[in-house]
Amino acid sequence: MQPKVRKAVFPAAGLGTRFLPATKAQPKEMLPLVDKPLIQYGVEEAVHSGVQNIIIVTGRGKSAIEDHFDVSFELENLLESRGKKDLLAAVRGVSDLIDVCYVRQKEALGLGHAVLRARELVGPEPFAVVLSDDVIDAETPCLRQLLDIYEFFNAPVIAVMEVPPERASAYGIVDAEPITHNGARDRLFRIRDMVEKPRPEDAPSNLAIIGRYVLTPEIFDSLAAIDPGRGGEIQLTDGLKHLLRRRPIYAYRFEGSRYDAGDKLGFLMATVEFALRRRDLGAEFREYLQSLHLDGGQ
Ligand code: UTP
Repeated sequence: MQPKVRKAVFPAAGLGTRFLPATKAQPKEMLPLVDKPLIQYGVEEAVHSGVQNIIIVTGRGKSAIEDHFDVSFELENLLESRGKKDLLAAVRGVSDLIDVCYVRQKEALGLGHAVLRARELVGPEPFAVVLSDDVIDAETPCLRQLLDIYEFFNAPVIAVMEVPPERASAYGIVDAEPITHNGARDRLFRIRDMVEKPRPEDAPSNLAIIGRYVLTPEIFDSLAAIDPGRGGEIQLTDGLKHLLRRRPIYAYRFEGSRYDAGDKLGFLMATVEFALRRRDLGAEFREYLQSLHLDGGQ
């Protein structure tokens, strides 16, 4: 039997330039979607998928992330003394979620480099990678869907979604062959090749890589072996291409909706949709949106 995936790596050392100036002194991963920071959605997804250890790769100016997952005695005491039980439970819920450990990426040298920084903490076992600015709403957590494929094939698997051709240049795009799985032939693919941010005419398919991966530890050797690629960064996609020469890698078109919350428009869309779904806010927020009479061209 293949080893179970116990650990998830959260690269969170990027500069978040698409969200400046908000991200000048505050990590993108701490931007709140309604009332929870982006990274908490990712950590909850990992916990609900059965992961037991979280490793966050942080950089300069990211201490708010560590504080968020730590115990805050002053805040807890204050809420307790004021009898704010619900808020106290929410605050304690975050630090009780799971144990988190941290490793630094001193310079933002790319996503692949960030993953490589977690090598010692991951050790010789399979692991997940979660990019928390990709927020995914799904009945079965997206990471759980990938883990089911990993457990079936004992091979790395990455989440993909269909994108229109004109959006291909914003993603890594896979060249992949469909595989019948559970009677269907439209979700699982064996990857032949992948291209980082191709021009629409060069895209080998409409399947874009998004921020969920289950990887095996050989990826670390691949990441250590490759040269910096696009933008002078060590790209995870290049590491995966290198690994592809040694073993099969699968792509899974997950079930659910993904929001690119690291992008301003994607973040706004996620905020509206998550707020509308909230029991405590949804009805009032819907009424407010309706009052804007958007069809009237405001
Ligand atoms: P992005 O491509 O979104 O880059 O990184 P970014 O720097 O965070 O944001 P923009 O594009 O400048 O606005 C994808 C993920 O990889 C992490 C980021 O934190 C994010 O979770 N990352 C990226 C690192 O941890 N280190 C890096 O050197 C680059």
